[in-house]
Formats: sequence, C-alpha cells, structure tokens
Amino acid sequence: MTYTPAKADQFIRENKHLLRSEYRLNYHLMSEFGWMNDPNGFIQYKGEYHLFYQHYPYRPEWGPMHWGHAVSRDLIKWNYLPVALAPDKPFDRDGCFSGSAIEKDGALYLMYTGHIVTGPDPKNDYYQIQNLAVSEDGVRFHKVDDNPVIGLSHIPPGASRKDFRDPKVFRRDGRYYAVLGSNDGQGNGQILLYRSEDLIRWAFVCVMAKSDGNMGDNWECPDFFELDGLDVLMFSPQRMPPQGRDYRNLHSTVYMWGRWNAVDETFQAEGYAPMDQGFDFYAPQTTLDDQGRRIVVAWMDTWETEIPTQNGHYWAGALTLPREMVRKEGKVLFKPVQEIERYRGELFQIRDLILDGETELAAGGDSYELEAVFEARDAERFGLKLRVGENEQTVLSYSTGDGVFCLDRNHSGIGPKGVRETEVPLCDGKLLLRAFVDRSSVEVFLQDGEKVMTARIYPGERSLGIRAFAEGRCSLASLKKWDLRI
Ligand code: FRU
Repeated sequence: MTYTPAKADQFIRENKHLLRSEYRLNYHLMSEFGWMNDPNGFIQYKGEYHLFYQHYPYRPEWGPMHWGHAVSRDLIKWNYLPVALAPDKPFDRDGCFSGSAIEKDGALYLMYTGHIVTGPDPKNDYYQIQNLAVSEDGVRFHKVDDNPVIGLSHIPPGASRKDFRDPKVFRRDGRYYAVLGSNDGQGNGQILLYRSEDLIRWAFVCVMAKSDGNMGDNWECPDFFELDGLDVLMFSPQRMPPQGRDYRNLHSTVYMWGRWNAVDETFQAEGYAPMDQGFDFYAPQTTLDDQGRRIVVAWMDTWETEIPTQNGHYWAGALTLPREMVRKEGKVLFKPVQEIERYRGELFQIRDLILDGETELAAGGDSYELEAVFEARDAERFGLKLRVGENEQTVLSYSTGDGVFCLDRNHSGIGPKGVRETEVPLCDGKLLLRAFVDRSSVEVFLQDGEKVMTARIYPGERSLGIRAFAEGRCSLASLKKWDLRI
C-alpha cells in the first residue's frame, strides 16, 4: 500500500463514525482515529501551539508511522489538522518516526526519523536516517530535496548502525543542535549530539551522555534544554532496571541535570530522576513558549501494555496534560499548565472534615479536577478512592510511617493492573494532592508537583463515586472538586 497524507485524512473522515465514545477523553489530546504514540514537533508557531504525534490511522495498532497534527491556543482545547507526514518517500519508506519542530525564517521545519526496513525480519533488519520537512503555513509540509540530512555516514564509530532516531532540534549559542537517541551496540543507551548552521548540513559533535550500565540498553526521544540556569537532558531509556520504587515500568523516562559547556560543547551530568512515577508516561517532549514556560507532554500509554480500546473502539493512545517544569528551591516541579483552570465548572467543596474510616462524598464524575489537603495527624494511612462503583475503585493512599504514596489500579476496571509507589515527605504534616481524572486516565500531582503519577484506567461508565478514608484519625482540611469539560 502506498501512503499519503490525503489518503489518511480521507480514511479518518470516512471511518470516524465508528469510534466508540466509552473511554474517549474529554480534555486530553488523543488519536483522532486509529493509533497514536509519541508526541512530536511540539512548538508554539505564529501564536498557536502545535502538537504532532506518531500516528497510524488505519488500525488502532502501531503500523507504518504517519504524523498526526493538532493545534491549540491554550494547550487544552485541540483541533485536528490534516495529517502532516506520511511514509511516501524512499528516505522514510517504512515510517516517519519521532522528531521535533523549529521555526526558521518564518517557516516551520520538522526534523524526523526515516525508518527503512532492509530485510525479511522488520524487528532486526532496518536502519534509520534523519529528514527535514518544511511548511510556510504550518499545515502542509514539503520534504526537502536534501534528505536525508543526517545519514548513515554521520553515525560515529561505536554507535548503533540501526537505532539512530528521534531528533530534537534546538538553537543554542547561535547554532542549531540536534540530540538523537542511540546505543553503543553493547547494551548501553546513549545520546548523540549534532551541530548545524543551516539545518541542512550537520556534523557529529559528541556522545552527550551514556548509560553507566544500569540505565537501559537503548535511549529514545531525547530533549535538551535550559531550565532556570540548570541544563536538562531528558530521554526515554528502554528496559532500564528498577531502582527501589523507581523505574518499575518496562520502559522509563528520565531527566538528567548538569552543566552544558558551550566552549567544549559537552554536557557534564550531575544527577538524574524519573519524570513520572506512574504507569503510563513515555517519550516526553518539551517546548519553550512565549511566556518563557518549559512545557512537557508525553504519550499517556507505553509499549507492551494492554490498551483496551484496541479491541473494538477504533482508537488507542492519548497524551498527558501539558505540564510546566519549574525549578524551585533546588527541586524540579511538574505542574499542570494553568490554562486547565479555565475549564473548571461546578465546584464541590469540603472543609475541616475529620476522617476516621471511610466517607462517600456527595460528588462524583468521570472528568474532573480534585484538590485535597490532608493533615495526617494520627492516621497511619489516608487517601481517596476515585471512580468508585460496584467492585471498582482506583485507590490513592498515603502511609505516614514510611512517607510513601501509592496509586493502586488493581480494581480500577478492565485493562492493566498494578501498584506504583513513590516517597514524598509531608510538608508541615500535610499532603497536597491534586488529581485530574478524565474518563480513562488519572494524573496525580503531589506536594505541588514534587512527584507525579500517571495511569490509564478503564472503569465502567457508572463507576463515578469518590470516597475519602483514613486508618486512624486525620483531617481533610480542604477538598475542592471541579468538573472539567471543554
Ligand atoms: C518511542 C519510539 C521512538 C520511535 C517511535 C516509533 O516510543 O519507539 O523511538 O521514533 O516510537 O513510533
């Protein structure tokens, strides 16, 4: 089959009526039809936010990758635009893989990976090269004649000849740079750095960072940026072994902080931490907007996990809420962009409720924001149960003995199960918990974004209850819940 953007658009138009609404999200960007994975090309261009995404429109499963495209004025309400890229050239024959966007001379450039299968075993017989596409209107893209702009001859000795993908292009110190995901062929993920003056001719600079043997065998989807004086390298390591409560998913996401040396063009890492402590957060990408905010968005699913909408729903895949990364008192915080508050509807509120046992709140729903302040007092454990119905609940709990917060989706409904935990200290004896529930997702921000946990959940449509509970006495000092609807 030959693919083109126009064919993809027509297919989506003709088949959209088949979508089942049951788990469709209300205020998250999701696949318009068919499959979505990584966010790509995240940029603010001519006043609008653009998000592209890895897309296979023809089935709700991964296939020859296209780039889907959506725009927004406020990062929350998105409108779909025509499919931007389809695998229709010799240099991207088997897929337009992940990449990024940059503005140059008023035009919008996409830099992406061309995936080329070379033999009978597509999992092993392939190579990857980097291409450019350009648009004057931000809607229709033209692939440049110079493609590939980074080819196989640009791969340094010792780097994988196959896994060479996901360029994130950026401008720094008056030059263009791109970071690329790679591995050293010996089971260690690494990031390659390239430099260019014109986006067309590229030179290899250095291996910017590499696994110490405990950080996964291949690194995907890198990003590099400055955050309030700190240099941050972000990437998605595959098969990174767990470290305590962290990195418990098959594939992880990491941000590594350190110092960029503009003279030597090197990065000195100082430490690293997970981006999210939940289940479904992969391949994040950031952009810097005109308010100076560093905003990150990720695929709100991950590889090799069950996605129930693949069966009979005609879609699979969504992106997280855009989150602002903020540096505060030596910490990096992740906060939902404040624009989400514009969509707050009806407010339900509680103050100073002493909890001892379990209480059903006189509020519920499947799409809302909830902000709770717990004073731990003498309780051993306390928390909230969301999407509660007959035999169903998603449990958020804090245990005061060890200072561990837990997200339990063992009884959330259909779909994947499990528990994720993260340590987070109380602040003056209090826990501030902000949760965003959207049909088939929950994102929990703890202590103003010190830790975040993201999970897809698939409860029944009638599982709408909310409960607060404590083992021992605690105080729910305040709880606010707003319906969120676009
Ligand atoms: C990450 C990833 C990228 C690749 C894309 C293919 O999820 O594996 O490395 O470009 O997905 O769809």
